[in-house]
Amino acid sequence: MKVDIITIFPRMVEAGLAEGVVGRARTGGLIDIVVHNLRDFTTDKHHVVDDVPFGGGPGMVMKPEPFFAALAAISERRGTPDAVVMLTPAGVPFTQAGARRLVGLGHLVLLCGRYEGIDERVREALATEELSIGDYVLSGGEIPALAVVDAVARLVPGVVGDEQSVDADSFTRGLLDYPHYTRPAEFAGRPVPGVLVSGHHGEIRRWRRNAALERTAERRPDLLADAALDADEHEWLSKRSKS
Ligand code: ADE
Repeated sequence: MKVDIITIFPRMVEAGLAEGVVGRARTGGLIDIVVHNLRDFTTDKHHVVDDVPFGGGPGMVMKPEPFFAALAAISERRGTPDAVVMLTPAGVPFTQAGARRLVGLGHLVLLCGRYEGIDERVREALATEELSIGDYVLSGGEIPALAVVDAVARLVPGVVGDEQSVDADSFTRGLLDYPHYTRPAEFAGRPVPGVLVSGHHGEIRRWRRNAALERTAERRPDLLADAALDADEHEWLSKRSKS
């Protein structure tokens, strides 16, 4: 999979891509990510990327021309992208289902905004979609772009060593994850639930499934409507809601 990220803070983005799962995926050649400095696509001496808003008001707006030039250069050097994603709090909420959809595309371009926003003509003419990573305002699209790349990269086959661990993750089944424990079996006066040290794999599976359901019902009941539940789980939930 190919990803191009356009930003005025390339070092910040590179730092976020250098470590951990994404860093290994890059060095291992499983994902090809290029970070572009938007200022490289300006034509003036001072590499200006922003300007005052038409109509007045506070703050600055990112100019359209550098984004158009960057997209043209990327298309020429790296091929036409399958999606051009603008990160903005006004975008569609980014979800695990969204990550699964994006990993199915071969080539993504991510546009990071700063200041009050990006000139609307970039959204109209270049962006194929807009994503938000949550209902809060960050000072730019760099952290959201890193979040999207991380969520998508770990779905690329081979990137996460244990494929089962991706399958078991929160949200893969539409449920929150069950609690995890490692040694020691008792710590700070708190023992690990007995079933987990029992060696009964069927029981362990059932305990985990119920713990995931319980947690989701308690913390995020909104997720249950779309979760992949079997008949037992539906029954468990209806009993829970009656008690
Ligand atoms: N830019 C600033 N805040 C953002 C958010 N919550 N999601 C995506 N892009 C953003």
